Amino acid sequence: MNDTFNIRVRDTLQKMTPYSPGKPIWELQNELGLSNIIKLASNENPLGPSPKALEAVASSLSDIHRYPDASTTRLRQALATGLEMIPEQFIISNGGDELITLVAETFLEPGDEVIVCSPSFSEYEFGAHLMGATIVPVALDESFRFDIDAIVGAVTARTRLICLCSPNNPTGTYLSKDVLHHLLDVLPKHVVILLDAAYSQFATASDYTNGLEFVRAGYPVIVLQTFSKIYGLAGLRVGYGVASETIIQQMIKVKEPFNVNALAQVAATAALHDAEHVRLTLEANTKGKLQLYQAFQEMGLSFVESMGNFVLVEIGAEAKHIYEALMTRGIIVRFGGIWNLPCHLRISVGYREENSTFIQAMADILTHDN
Ligand SMILES: Cc1ncc(COP(=O)(O)O)c(C=O)c1O
Repeated sequence: MNDTFNIRVRDTLQKMTPYSPGKPIWELQNELGLSNIIKLASNENPLGPSPKALEAVASSLSDIHRYPDASTTRLRQALATGLEMIPEQFIISNGGDELITLVAETFLEPGDEVIVCSPSFSEYEFGAHLMGATIVPVALDESFRFDIDAIVGAVTARTRLICLCSPNNPTGTYLSKDVLHHLLDVLPKHVVILLDAAYSQFATASDYTNGLEFVRAGYPVIVLQTFSKIYGLAGLRVGYGVASETIIQQMIKVKEPFNVNALAQVAATAALHDAEHVRLTLEANTKGKLQLYQAFQEMGLSFVESMGNFVLVEIGAEAKHIYEALMTRGIIVRFGGIWNLPCHLRISVGYREENSTFIQAMADILTHDN
């Protein structure tokens, strides 16, 4: 810190860097002076928000001088009804991101160990560092599958939490029901599992599980869900956790009272009942993924079959150059370097025209720039 003052920040901050988000559309618009930017970088819903959510927000605007419901009663009730659970098994958060922090604040003491798979979503490390806990990374195997033996082998008496992301961001690979079941059965009793199922609604594999069955069966599992992906409400910030009533009772103690704003609450509740928007989103995602797969095959690029709304493609040593060249054409994707995958790009599935523009630009760059 500034030498003039004798103030100091917590030691753990030395291990932390601010989150690096996908470049916002407005920023690239300003930089390039282009009006038409295509953003395939943050796994958002290319169809936009649920129309029912938009209506609910519009009709609630005149109430925003009131504090939101601190207990998010209606949303928890709607979720509980839909999933045949009880409202006391849900905690609503300011996006899935906040849920990760709440889990960290509930369970982690300095020096505790948190097992995270690598590469995966970076916020688990943020939560662990925030609490002064130690990250124990376990690499995915060479096909980006979960290495369960390595995860079990990494568990010690200090392991408090294991974060598993399925479908995994950025690889799109997943953890099968049998494998998760086996893991839960062999883990020692002092370990909590955070199963991040942010992309669960996109998963089509018959042996996929969103983990709720294990919550119902009484395992110490917290399932993370978000309204940012399939429901298209990333800008409103609303996610939730599902676990046993006992776990949720503890997590509520670290939650700020008004963590989920009033518009997010009504929008999420309405989006839950918008089956048509979900159906159209899934349809567009399935078609868009096939469009990307086919294009990558034609370009001779290998990719990982994805259970999410994004595809990880292997480009080779030119990946960064291609990422930058796409950017100059107004197309934002994610460079794999942020996950230590410098030969890869992660492409969020857009709608058809967006995917086509991206594919044409890729093909063009590959032919002319190399
Ligand atoms: C795997 C995963 N979990 C959680 C989140 C958090 O989403 P949000 O905070 O928008 O709900 C994301 C967002 O990209 C994600 O990829």
